[in-house]
Amino acid sequence: MRTGVKNILVAVTGGIAAYKSAILVRRLKDYGFDVRVVMTKGAQAFVTPLTFQALSGHPVHTALLDSEAEAGMGHIELAKWAELLLVAPASCDVIAKFAHGLADDLLSTLYLATAAPVWVVPAMNQQMWSAHATQRNLDILRQDAVTVVMPDAGEQACGDVGLGRMPEPEYLAKQVDAYFKQPQLLQGQHVVITAGPTREAIDPVRYISNHSSGKMGFALAEACVKAGARVTLIAGPVSLATPKGVERVDVVSADDMLEQSLKHVNSDVFIATAAVADYKVEKVASQKIKKTGDTLNLNFVKNPDIVATMAKQSKRPFMVGFAAETQNIEDYANGKLVNKKLDMIACNDVSRGDIGFGADDNAMTVFFAQHYQLSKRILEKAPKTQIAQQLVSAIADALRG
Ligand code: C5P
Repeated sequence: MRTGVKNILVAVTGGIAAYKSAILVRRLKDYGFDVRVVMTKGAQAFVTPLTFQALSGHPVHTALLDSEAEAGMGHIELAKWAELLLVAPASCDVIAKFAHGLADDLLSTLYLATAAPVWVVPAMNQQMWSAHATQRNLDILRQDAVTVVMPDAGEQACGDVGLGRMPEPEYLAKQVDAYFKQPQLLQGQHVVITAGPTREAIDPVRYISNHSSGKMGFALAEACVKAGARVTLIAGPVSLATPKGVERVDVVSADDMLEQSLKHVNSDVFIATAAVADYKVEKVASQKIKKTGDTLNLNFVKNPDIVATMAKQSKRPFMVGFAAETQNIEDYANGKLVNKKLDMIACNDVSRGDIGFGADDNAMTVFFAQHYQLSKRILEKAPKTQIAQQLVSAIADALRG
C-alpha cells in the first residue's frame, strides 16, 4: 500500500518521444499521483505546454527566470515539492548537463536543488545512445545515485534500428507506482552494513587492498532505507555516492572498520558485505621503503574478523555474512555460517566472470542458521539492486521467524 498522494515532477526534454510523456502524465494521474510538468525549450518544439497543463491539471513550468512563474511556485519550492524527479524523455544534452552540474535553465537547476530521487529515461537515436560521451555521462549519473531506466530496442522514429526507444508510458507509470509501494519490511530497524575493500598500509605511500567495488553493500544500504530502516554504512575506500537517507562512515583499514562496527553492537541487523583484507603488514614502515634489494620481505599478521567479533558480543544484532567462493559453495558457506556464528549467509560463485566483484549483476544462494527452519534461497542472476531487495526480504523473513 502507498500512503498519501505522492508528488511526481515529470521533466520533458527535446526529443520525438516527448509525445509519449503526455500519455505518461495521464497514466501517473490514473495511479493517483499529483503530477507537475517541467519542459525544456527543446521539448516545447515537439509538444505544447498546454497539452501537459490540461493533462496534469497544473500550469507547466518552463523558465528559470520568469518572475510570474516564480511568484506561483518558485524553482526551489518546486524542487522541494517533488518526491520523484522523472526525466522522460531525457536527451543527451540534459544527461550531459546533469553529469557536469550545469545550472543554466530550470530543469538543470531543479536537478541540483532537489533532494528527491531522480530517474532519467534516456530516449535518443541508437548511435547517440552508444556514443562514448553519452555512456560516460550515464555512468557519472549512476555514481551520483541517479536511476537510469534502460531504453528499449527496436525501430526508431528516424528509421534506425537499435537501443534508444523510450519505454512505454504504461510500463514507466507501473514502475513508479511499484517504487512507492515497496513494503516497509525493515520499518524501525537499525541496519549496519560494512562495504567495499579495506586498505592496509605498508608504508606512508603504499598499501595492499583488493578489487571490491562496494556496489553490493551500497545497493543493500539503499534497499534497506527503502524498506524503512535506519542505515549506517561503514565504507572502505570506494568511489560510490552515498545513497539518499544513509548515514555513511568512511574507514580505511580493517582495524578502523572493526572499531566503527563495535560502536553498533546494539543495532538490529549487521550485514558484512566488506571484502576485508585477511592480513595486514605486521610493522608499517614509518618512512617510504627504498628499493635497495632485489627482493622485499614483508611479514603479515591476521586482521581481526569483524563479523565474527561482532557475533561474539553478548547482545548482538541479527548477523548476515557474505561469502565469495569458487567451488563447494554450499559446504564452504555453511562452514562460515557455523564458524562465524552467523544467522544468515549469502554466497556467490565468483568462478563465474559475469557476477560478483565489480560487476553490476549478482546471483546468490542464501543459507540460514539451522534454528531458523527456513529453506535455502536461490537468487537468480539480476542487477545488484534487485538482489539487494531480495536479500532484504530474506532478512525480514528470518527476523519474523
Ligand atoms: O572468511 P571470508 O572472508 O570468506 O568471510 C566472508 C564474510 O566475513 C563476509 O561477510 C565478510 O564481510 C566477513 N569478514 C569480516 N572480517 C574479516 C573477514 C571477513 O567481517 N576479517
